[in-house]
Formats: sequence, C-alpha cells, structure tokens
Amino acid sequence: MLQPVGPVILAIESSCDETSAAVIRNGKVLNNIIASQAVHQKYGGVVPELASRAHQRNIVMVVEEALTSAGVQLQEMDAIAFTRGPGLMGSLLVGVSFAKGLALALNKPLIEVNHMQAHVLSHFIDDPRPAFPFICLTVSGGHTQLIIVKDYLDMEVIGETQDDAVGEAFDKAAKIMGLPYPGGPLIDKHAQAGNPEAYSFSKTSMPGLDFSFSGIKTAFLYFIRDERKKNPAFVEENLNDICASIQRHLISMLTDKVVQASEQTGINQVAIAGGVSANSGLRNALKTLAGKHGWDLFIPAFEYCTDNAGMIAMAAHFKYQKGLFTKLNVSPLARMPV
Ligand code: KG4
Ligand code: ZN
Repeated sequence: MLQPVGPVILAIESSCDETSAAVIRNGKVLNNIIASQAVHQKYGGVVPELASRAHQRNIVMVVEEALTSAGVQLQEMDAIAFTRGPGLMGSLLVGVSFAKGLALALNKPLIEVNHMQAHVLSHFIDDPRPAFPFICLTVSGGHTQLIIVKDYLDMEVIGETQDDAVGEAFDKAAKIMGLPYPGGPLIDKHAQAGNPEAYSFSKTSMPGLDFSFSGIKTAFLYFIRDERKKNPAFVEENLNDICASIQRHLISMLTDKVVQASEQTGINQVAIAGGVSANSGLRNALKTLAGKHGWDLFIPAFEYCTDNAGMIAMAAHFKYQKGLFTKLNVSPLARMPV
C-alpha cells in the first residue's frame, strides 16, 4: 500500500544576519540553505539596516536554491512558514513579507514560528531525539535561557539572562581583544591551544536559575586594559591563554545553572541549542557533567546550532500537525516570549 505523503513546507528564517530557507517533507528536513552576511564583520557587530538590505538581496536566491535542491515546485507546498520573532525588526520584516506574498499568491496557509522554540526543536531534525520532558539550555547572540520542554510546542522558561546574552559576552570579549565579529568562534579556536587556568576574572552569580554576564564583561575589559598598560603586546603574546581563560569562566557560568536546574527539577535529559552550542569547550564540559550526573545529553549537529531555516521547518511541521496557522495580517515581533 502506498504511504500517504505528509505535508511539504517551505520555511524562511531572517531574524538576524543569516538569510535561510529549507524544505521539509513529512517531518524530514530535505535541505537547509544559508546565506551569511559578511558585511557586518568590519563594524564589530550586526548593523540592523545592513542586515535588512542583505536579506532583501539574498532571499529569492536562497528560496530558489532550497526548492531546486529538494526537487520541488512552489505549487507543491502545503504551507509557507516563517520566523515571526524574536529578532531585528527590519530583518524579520523581509522574511515575513516574503512569506505572506508567497502564501497569498499560492493560496496556501501561513505558519509563524518562534525563533527560540525553533532552536529547541532543532533536536527533532535528526536522531537521537530527546524524550519529554527535557531541559534545554538555549544560548545565542541574543538569548540565554533554561527551558523545560514538556512537549513540541509546550515550553517553560525557568531561567534567563538579566542583561547580556552569553553569545554577546563572547563577542564583546573578542572585540575587547581586537578580534573581528563574530568573535565567539574565534575565542573557541584560540582556546583550544590555550591554558584555561592561566587567568581568573571575578564573576557575579545571579540567584536561582537566572544568568548575568555584564559583570564578567566589565571585569575582562579592566583586566585587558590594565595588562596592556604594563605590556602593549599582552593580548597578542597571550591570546590562546586569554581565550581559554575567559571561555572557561563563561562556560562554568552556564554549566553551574544546568546542574542546578537538573537537581531542582529531577530531569536528567539535557539538551543545548543556539549558536553558542557550537562551542567545543561547552560541548566537552557538558559531556563530562553528563557522565558525572548520569544525564542523557543532546547536542545538535553544527549546521543546526547557528541560525538556520531547517529548525524553522521542523517547528512548522509540528504546528501543521496541530492546524496552527496564521492570518495574512500577521506582523513580526522583535520580542516574542517562548
Ligand atoms: O543562534 P545564533 O546563530 O544567532 C542568534 O540568534 O543570536 O548565535 C550567534 C552567536 C554569536 O554570538 C556567536 O559568536 C556565537 O553564537 N557562537 C559561538 C560559537 N559559534 C557561534 N560562541 C562561542 N563559540 C562558538 N564556537
Ligand atoms: Zn538564533
């Protein structure tokens, strides 16, 4: 007997500085096309106006590539999905307007996706898939959240940053050292050849399961400034050790709270998601903790850590199953709770 073919959905992601499109068929992500924006590098961070313009330039190309590589036509889509928020308003507007135009022209339903929920749901793209409930540490350039995931679309934030996101802390530390944006992956690379115990910085801890990264950022800024006064080439001569040391601190601030969350909730299935989950030090630290505490640990493939439409497609699939469609008069949300 022929198996019924599940829904085919085109998903679009444009919340920050990656323009991405993906096609999902019957719950299987067929591709994940990403156009990154190098234009921000020389400014030391994402410039929102430039990001919107680059999305506008790239979006037709990434959508066409996603359709071609999946071997499907636009007319075959059962729905069009897009990131509604959170993110940069101008960036979101490009994806939302494009998705609306397609849905209108094709007379197909629209599905809005919450970007942070999608980061969590990237765990359902490939095996092994976590079982419910699980704890997810979602760490990106804009967010640092501890979430209890009760079901595909039922999530509760149990802790979050009260100031900077951890990805922002990585990027700012890199900027202080004169490294280009985004500095997180560069710190990771240099840290692998450095001594994590070489330097210490004072860090502030928030009560409960919340995070704060502004204190360590300031401590790091003063540390580098003072060392440079003594030796102007301090950073260049000790880059690997400095990167390893600041990375060790940032990671321990994350993992301390994951341990606390697991103890507090009794949940021993732990997942990480978001751009910073690509960090090798964080992955290794969590693997060690998983062994010690008996956790089942879930780490997404690198491709699905940073912003991508594959995860938006996955979230859209679950929303399609529940008939959760969006009206054509929808507008993006720069802030959008999980
Ligand atoms: O999820 P994402 O792609 O975009 C946002 O939604 O913010 O995350 C981007 C963030 C940036 O701050 C970047 O520096 C950080 O993730 N990041 C890393 C690594 N790869 C990306 N931080 C540390 N180590 C990495 N390997
Ligand atoms: Zn993200």
